[in-house]
Amino acid sequence: MAKEISERSQGHNEVADVYDSKKKSWYINRFRAIPKRIYELTGKESPSVLDLGCGTGLILSWFNGRRVGVDCSEKMLEVAERERPGPTYVFSDISNFRTEERFDAIILVDVIEFLKDLSFFRQLRNLLNQDGVLLVVNINPKMKPLVWLFDKLNMKLPTGKWIWRKPEDIMSAVKEAGFNKVFSEPNFPHIYYWGFG
Ligand SMILES: C[S@@+](CC[C@H](N)C(=O)[O-])C[C@H]1O[C@@H](n2cnc3c(N)ncnc32)[C@H](O)[C@@H]1O
Repeated sequence: MAKEISERSQGHNEVADVYDSKKKSWYINRFRAIPKRIYELTGKESPSVLDLGCGTGLILSWFNGRRVGVDCSEKMLEVAERERPGPTYVFSDISNFRTEERFDAIILVDVIEFLKDLSFFRQLRNLLNQDGVLLVVNINPKMKPLVWLFDKLNMKLPTGKWIWRKPEDIMSAVKEAGFNKVFSEPNFPHIYYWGFG
């Protein structure tokens, strides 16, 4: 794996063993509605899901169909395999991930803040089944001062430097990747970005 990738995964490797216990339950519960929302949007009760940047597999564990998780931190994947077996976990950088498989939903939750380049979105549409949906969950930029404060107070996990993106830039990246019916939903402290295949 390229040097830049191993440096990128270093932060998550170091926090992997405490990652789940340090996440506050109110924060995690914000994401609990994701499977239901995907069901509403796709009409599929057991969608096949590709989770890019799956971390410890938490969000995948709330789905009940075919599940594939991709992550470039071997330690996060170790926790996922141990604590949440079932999905297929793949050690890969998201940008290099290739598969012949097609999915009903592709999700990226709290991941793009670690990625310099979103041009890999262009490959994602080809990984979706017809009527499939892409979900990108990103922290609301209005949170920046608060996150900065948490960081200073050592209340933020030291997972690495975040890239703060404007909502319009994320919308553009999803549209340019060829997705249809692109829209965003506020889900404080996050914004959800949806695109259809
Ligand atoms: C903040 S965690 C979120 C994990 C999970 N999505 C969740 O919400 O619980 C970010 C994850 O993205 C992974 N990640 C960051 N950059 C990546 C890349 N280029 N390729 C694959 N995984 C990446 C990290 O290793 C980490 O597990």
